[in-house]
Amino acid sequence: MTENEILQYLAEVHHPGRGDRDIVSLGMVQRVSVADETVRVTLAFPRRRDPLAEYLIGAARAALVRHLPTGVRSEVDTVVVDEVKPKPGPQDLDASQLSGVRHIIGIASGKGGVGKSTVAVNLACALARLGYRVGLADADVYGPSVPTMTATEGQQPLAEDTEGGECILPLEKYGVKWMSIGYFAERGQALIWRGPMACNALKQMILQVKWGELDYLLIDMPPGTGDIHISLVQDIPMEAAVIVTTPQNVALSDVEKGIDLFRNKNVGKEILGIVENMSWFTPEAHPEEKYYLFGRDGGKEMAAAFGVELLAQIPVVQSIRENADAGEPSALGTGPAAEAFLSLAARLAEKVG
Ligand SMILES: Nc1ncnc2c1ncn2[C@@H]1O[C@H](COP(=O)(O)OP(=O)(O)OP(=O)(O)O)[C@@H](O)[C@H]1O
Ligand SMILES: [Mg+2]
Repeated sequence: MTENEILQYLAEVHHPGRGDRDIVSLGMVQRVSVADETVRVTLAFPRRRDPLAEYLIGAARAALVRHLPTGVRSEVDTVVVDEVKPKPGPQDLDASQLSGVRHIIGIASGKGGVGKSTVAVNLACALARLGYRVGLADADVYGPSVPTMTATEGQQPLAEDTEGGECILPLEKYGVKWMSIGYFAERGQALIWRGPMACNALKQMILQVKWGELDYLLIDMPPGTGDIHISLVQDIPMEAAVIVTTPQNVALSDVEKGIDLFRNKNVGKEILGIVENMSWFTPEAHPEEKYYLFGRDGGKEMAAAFGVELLAQIPVVQSIRENADAGEPSALGTGPAAEAFLSLAARLAEKVG
């Protein structure tokens, strides 16, 4: 039995008068000791009498009795202090920085290179065009695309001191708030973070950003379904996911893995639907023609197979790639590409709303 375990038990006690936060994160547990089969806990109360003191002492005793093995005694006493200072922790960051965000949606796929980032960036711009307040976090630590796709490379986000610690201000362009790990790396320099470091940097990059009031925060997920993904899905309070795929059959098993990442019983997040990208090629000069380069309706069939909606079919259009490279997302313009992204945005908003 360690002090940390005792703290975990005590964290089950919530203070109804202080936003229902737990007594550990409120900084009320002043001392924990474990010796001679006895657990001793000291709770700190401010000089001004806390009307809930008796209740909290009782609840702390009950939490210990529930968890401690038989034979281990527990004692809870109290001390009066001038001020109880809450501890800033990940939960606080989470609550303070993401509390103004209404819907957090992951843009994912099991497979690389299917157009997740293209769809995420254009969807963000399209939602903004429809009047929603939107942010996008580029969660690809190894190959961030947002700085290029929005022509914001080289810009440096500002930091701001707040009560809970330092937070980062997102960049704003095209009516969208952007954040990417790419803003923190030298241009052209590869990020060589290993697993846990990458995970932590990522979480910080999403949780410590001052997103403010947003209707949608999109998370552009990195390709694959590894540890980073699992940690992201568990630690960022994502509400649902959109899966991007091409019509090619070979992508089916990867898509299945991508879907399972969110749907498995430990995570249980909703899949809003599938976006089939690169559905057909339409020459700019002949918008009525369609060439099915990567097969036909693969995404549609997948959606039916997994029991989810096909949210959109996005054609291969030369300007989508050119605009992505130039940092001016197609969704900001006119023509079939912009229309495809705008109708995707409208459908998504309808579904989520
Ligand atoms: N509908 C489209 N029409 C034309 N080009 C496209 C389309 N969708 C994506 N592309 C291009 O395909 C390439 C890969 O797209 P993107 O980077 O968005 O994929 P990704 O799934 O995010 O890749 P990664 O797995 O590496 O993160 C980019 O060059 C992009 O401009
Ligand atoms: Mg990408």
